[in-house]
Amino acid sequence: MNSYLFRNVSVLGAAPTDLLIRDGVVAEAGAGLSAPDALVVEADGLVALPGLVDLHTHLREPGREDAETVETGSRSAALGGYTAVCAMANTSPVADTAGVVEQVWRLGREAGLVDVQPIGAVTVGLAGERLAELGAMADSAARVRIFSDDGHCVADPRLMRRALEYVKAFDGIIAQHAEEPRLTEGAQMHEGEVSTRLGLTGWPAVAEEAIIARDVLLAEHVGSRLHVCHVSTAGSVEVLRQAKARGVRVTAEVTPHHLLLTDVRAETYDPVFKVNPPLRTATDIAALRAALVDGVIDIVATDHAPHTVEDKECEWVYARPGMLGLETALSIALDVLGPEWDLIAERMSRAPARIAGLTEHGHDPAPGAPANLVLVDPAVRRVIEPAEMASRSRNTPYARMTLPGRIVATFLRGEATVLDGKAVK
Ligand code: DOR
Ligand code: ZN
Repeated sequence: MNSYLFRNVSVLGAAPTDLLIRDGVVAEAGAGLSAPDALVVEADGLVALPGLVDLHTHLREPGREDAETVETGSRSAALGGYTAVCAMANTSPVADTAGVVEQVWRLGREAGLVDVQPIGAVTVGLAGERLAELGAMADSAARVRIFSDDGHCVADPRLMRRALEYVKAFDGIIAQHAEEPRLTEGAQMHEGEVSTRLGLTGWPAVAEEAIIARDVLLAEHVGSRLHVCHVSTAGSVEVLRQAKARGVRVTAEVTPHHLLLTDVRAETYDPVFKVNPPLRTATDIAALRAALVDGVIDIVATDHAPHTVEDKECEWVYARPGMLGLETALSIALDVLGPEWDLIAERMSRAPARIAGLTEHGHDPAPGAPANLVLVDPAVRRVIEPAEMASRSRNTPYARMTLPGRIVATFLRGEATVLDGKAVK
């Protein structure tokens, strides 16, 4: 096992110091360390953060290996500065049994680039009719704690209640894709002035807000933990703010794209901007950014959603919703928040690790901490090139945009997964 000596690294923006990484942990910190056996990383100008943790990644395996595999998605994650990702259950077959979640977990171990924590489905086949084997998934080798039908909403309030009650026994979480399906039939984009002009069927903000309002009340009623996926509207933020003020056990995420892009992008009719929930308005973006800063929104999660060329480069109405996110998330966070390293570490590493119960992750790089960490060069501005991405898919909405920050190195349990900006394996 290699040891690494980082020279003159800034831990979360603090004055430069040396860090020694040995035996999977941060062994020492201080000026002028020496370790003859260690590989030296000259880290002047680089910032060390705890390895990022993504609570919402679509890895597509099993079933759509033409769009992504556990291995390609893991490489994409490591290159984005992640050391752990939670893999959504909408695979084929669906991750609704102990067998499938164990398969995904094992593939993650074999790839060895990030810790892959499977999320289990709430309902059998994501069909919204019968509860899946939540207990068996929790007891499996994958030790599932988060359950989600993401891609679909658990729309039936009685099923939602039973799911929340069921996971309470092991302090599990139901992660809801909040979308009242009766209000979004045929929806193509955000319902508003732009959808009217383009003549596309709208996805109204209230379809999200109504489900979040219902679910925080259900979570309050049964005393269980609710997590709200990809919050996208100013109204949702207000519902969450009130629920949190009452002490409801609810956490929430926002995606990088909902922090940066608006529904005006649909004017291009380029399906790379089609996503669910849809891109909203500048007013929503302002509310989401403020909520991310004040903590009503707990975390940034990517909703990394790879899709093949066939599923994306077609007419808008036929295209699948979803965007790549893992390799650009930190740059978007830097763009939106500025070099607020402590806030970035909290929203992209510590808090998601806490929510998911990933106890080895989300620790600031300090002596004794597991060496799951990332080195960032904040001074670099880079042009996003889809062809250069490690993901098997190319559907990034940031193509040819110039964004701040570059991931220089990522370490998982003290071993480099990324060095000099390149994946190690
Ligand atoms: O845009 C989306 N894509 N939203 C979802 O909820 C699912 C995801 C996917 O699986 O592609
Ligand atoms: Zn979703």
